[in-house]
Amino acid sequence: MHITHIVAAAENGAIGKDNRLLWRLPDDMKFFKEKTTGHCVVTGRRNYESIPLNFRPLPGRTNIVVTRQPGYDAPGAHVVQSIEAAVELARTLNETELFIIGGGEIYAQTRHFATRIWLTRVHTELEADTFYPAPDPTLWKKVSEEFHPADEKHAFAFTFICYEKN
Ligand SMILES: NC(=O)c1ccc[n+]([C@@H]2O[C@H](COP(=O)([O-])OP(=O)(O)OC[C@H]3O[C@@H](n4cnc5c(N)ncnc54)[C@H](OP(=O)(O)O)[C@@H]3O)[C@@H](O)[C@H]2O)c1
Repeated sequence: MHITHIVAAAENGAIGKDNRLLWRLPDDMKFFKEKTTGHCVVTGRRNYESIPLNFRPLPGRTNIVVTRQPGYDAPGAHVVQSIEAAVELARTLNETELFIIGGGEIYAQTRHFATRIWLTRVHTELEADTFYPAPDPTLWKKVSEEFHPADEKHAFAFTFICYEKN
């Protein structure tokens, strides 16, 4: 089973502030939907709560919310109390590619065993309180990249980059 991070980060690693995203990039949202549909997605409780109520659980995906709160209720989603339990649940569902969708705490705790990263590098620097560090080139090999220019619907240019573990 691949364990894949999917994340959008500015040049300075910024991914979020005040439990919100920093941009609205419709083609990146579309990319996220295409990649993750049909798969299990693992989210931290804070990231899950940042998704508007009418968009969660993310449709067409098995949503797994990680929290330490006993009895936490997320209708339509699986709730687990550890990252290990989230990975185990995906394995029991015969998942082939498990997507870690953030936020910062969950990325940080799963990076060492992730096998693939889909990074949307957003070509700007923004103030933030949550960051995603650049993949270490001694550990991660860039296997593809595709540039998307800024336009009337996208305030910033960005590049879809895929990394795989060396
Ligand atoms: N740009 C992007 O691609 C992207 C993607 C996702 C998120 N984000 C941004 O990231 C920010 C949220 O990230 P965050 O770091 O604040 O929070 P987070 O990682 O989404 O969630 C943190 C919460 O997850 C639970 N948790 C963490 N580690 C755990 C463990 N080992 N076992 C059990 N539960 C655990 C805890 O929930 P409890 O407190 O309930 O115990 C913790 O408070 C937001 O600004 C969001 O917009 C950006």
